[in-house]
Amino acid sequence: MTTVTENSIATHTLIENRWSPRAFTNDPVSEEQLEALFEAARWAPSAMNEQPWRFIYATKEDKEVFEKLGSLLVEGNNWAKNAGALFVSIAKTKYDFNGSPNKHAWHDVGLATGNLLLQATELGLHVHLMGGFDAAMAKQELGIPDGFEAVAMGAVGYAGDPESLPEPLKARELAPRKRKPLRELVFKGQWEQK
Ligand SMILES: Cc1cc2nc3c(=O)[nH]c(=O)nc-3n(C[C@H](O)[C@H](O)[C@H](O)COP(=O)(O)O)c2cc1C
Repeated sequence: MTTVTENSIATHTLIENRWSPRAFTNDPVSEEQLEALFEAARWAPSAMNEQPWRFIYATKEDKEVFEKLGSLLVEGNNWAKNAGALFVSIAKTKYDFNGSPNKHAWHDVGLATGNLLLQATELGLHVHLMGGFDAAMAKQELGIPDGFEAVAMGAVGYAGDPESLPEPLKARELAPRKRKPLRELVFKGQWEQK
């Protein structure tokens, strides 16, 4: 997987090298590695330093819980069950300090998850995030209390052989990674101003 950057100043290799595989090897992911990922997440910035992120995870060795997490996924994400670990990210939707809605909660879960992804890259691991799962069922099955919402799921492991995937997953795995050009995303001083 190569990433084409638009700038003469190099993007950090951790950012360049991160991508989301669908094929995973059978290699296990250790508790120690997962702890390193969640530790990276823990140090993300957040509104009012609320740290509204929570994670529930299972390694493949913890068969029962791993299968429970796997059962939350939509069929199109079944490839994730080959990964070494699965997790659900969760947002605390109200501020600790006054109970008012924290409109930045999902934003901050995303920031924490971004840290987690880069730490995974540093360890030679890959994480594929998924919105395709049943969040209501996650809440019920995993005992997530009121005031918390399941945000996304992640598959963690080592990138495997794309040839092991059925179509159309194989084609997606081998397709070049694409991004919108900066000019569509970034404006100077005013909307759509170059
Ligand atoms: C919040 C979120 C939800 C996603 N949901 C899915 C999903 O359900 N299934 C899937 O195959 N990929 C999912 N992805 C992965 C994206 O498709 C992927 O990150 C994007 O195509 C860019 O590819 P890259 O991560 O390899 O750079 C999701 C990513 C994010 C951040």
